[in-house]
Amino acid sequence: MAALSSVFLRRAALTGRSCSLFAIRRTMSTQTQTRPVTLPTFSMAGKVCLVTGAARGLGLEFCRAFVGSGCTSLAVLDLLQSEAQGAAEELKAYGKEVNADAEVNAVGIECDVSSEESVKKAFESTIEAFGRVDAVVASAGIVHNYSALEYPVDKMKRLYDINVHGSFFTAREAAKHMIPQGSGAIVFVASMSANIVNVPQLQMPYNASKAAVKHMAETLAVEWGKTGVRVNILSPGYMQTKLLREVLAIDTKLKETWEAMTPMGRLGNPEDLAGAIVFLCSDASTFMTGSEIRVDGGYCTI
Ligand SMILES: NC(=O)c1ccc[n+]([C@@H]2O[C@H](COP(=O)([O-])OP(=O)(O)OC[C@H]3O[C@@H](n4cnc5c(N)ncnc54)[C@H](O)[C@@H]3O)[C@@H](O)[C@H]2O)c1
Repeated sequence: MAALSSVFLRRAALTGRSCSLFAIRRTMSTQTQTRPVTLPTFSMAGKVCLVTGAARGLGLEFCRAFVGSGCTSLAVLDLLQSEAQGAAEELKAYGKEVNADAEVNAVGIECDVSSEESVKKAFESTIEAFGRVDAVVASAGIVHNYSALEYPVDKMKRLYDINVHGSFFTAREAAKHMIPQGSGAIVFVASMSANIVNVPQLQMPYNASKAAVKHMAETLAVEWGKTGVRVNILSPGYMQTKLLREVLAIDTKLKETWEAMTPMGRLGNPEDLAGAIVFLCSDASTFMTGSEIRVDGGYCTI
């Protein structure tokens, strides 16, 4: 019975028959409580999702959020094929955990976002595997900490190549496929650093790159506004991922400093972003474009 109900639920979500969905849910609540009740527009069922930098950290968490919301078709992009495929296998297993009836088809694809050619190939592989792409998250990004006076130029250029140009190549390939479809959601992962200057660590190019990403997203949202393709920005505060752990390993006192500067008194966990990414990529945000959601424990408000 539980399996049958969940099949009905997914079909109803796919066809947008919200009235019958509510009826089914009401029936279910008296019989069995398999899944929590939520607005059907938040469902990612039937959508093909692509995430860059998805082998770990926030990118992998975004994929988990999509699978948890019903997505069964995922392109998992990262620098190394082995790591991308490893994450894809993890997501398939996670899919079985959250819904035993649905098989998640996750494909690991090698992609260096700083290379336009590599991004093009990754989108071609995605279209070959799934036929379309509905939600794209440009999450791949790096950070270094040097003073502006000492920053090695080659590292600075590499950072801009990944954070800025890589985000653009990703969004442009996405739009090439989404515009003919007449629909699609693109999310740029910027940072609270797009809005403020982080202290005490020194990271001028990172902050500038994220401000560029934010304004790039706003500009593309206007340029593609009438095509059905939405472009939004997710700006996390300090989230405990490998990227952050590498920074904290160099300066162990930093964690306490950052916690003290955050109104909520803690650093974020990657899963704290799950609701925001699903909102931005699902039909729950169909009239939203060029907007930024900050998820930072209140950091930017003081
Ligand atoms: N963790 C935080 O506190 C935080 C805060 C604000 C914004 N962000 C942003 O979130 C995004 C993800 O950060 P994270 O914390 O998950 O980092 P992470 O280092 O844990 O993961 C980043 C992933 O991107 C991949 N990657 C790096 N260069 C790449 C390239 N050229 N092509 C494809 N993939 C590449 C890495 O292999 C890795 O899997 C970044 O854009 C980062 O700037 C992170």
